[in-house]
Amino acid sequence: MSMKENLERLAGTMKRWQKLENAAIAQTARIMEETEHPLIRAVMEVIKNDSENHYRIQQLIIDSVEKEYINVFTDDLVKVWDSIEKHIALEKKTIEMAAESLEALEGSKNVVQLYLLDYLRADEEKHDRLLADLDRIKRSMYP
Ligand SMILES: [Fe+2]
Ligand SMILES: [Fe+2]
Repeated sequence: MSMKENLERLAGTMKRWQKLENAAIAQTARIMEETEHPLIRAVMEVIKNDSENHYRIQQLIIDSVEKEYINVFTDDLVKVWDSIEKHIALEKKTIEMAAESLEALEGSKNVVQLYLLDYLRADEEKHDRLLADLDRIKRSMYP
């Protein structure tokens, strides 16, 4: 397959994936209407919000194929980078907070708190990784 065909296939897959995200958004909203359980509601809300984000990211990928290629190598990236570095430091601190919180619960059987903190820690690590990968891309372009 040519590069162009591959990209068209990618965009097609993104559109199919978006349908699943829409279904996930509707399904999680429905479950939230069915229950007052705070934990179930919180989990459904997380998944709903994430699905909305995923939909937007998929759209960005589609647009980068069908409308305009996203160029990383721009002055905008350099201009904002000081602020990004500050944010990288902030995210690192949140990971410390998660570790500290989990430490406080060591030996406890508070499954709900442990479950929620584990989610938060994984999410903060995800933010950290997202920024680390961005940093890697930047370094490869501005050595
Ligand atoms: Fe998703
Ligand atoms: Fe974060």
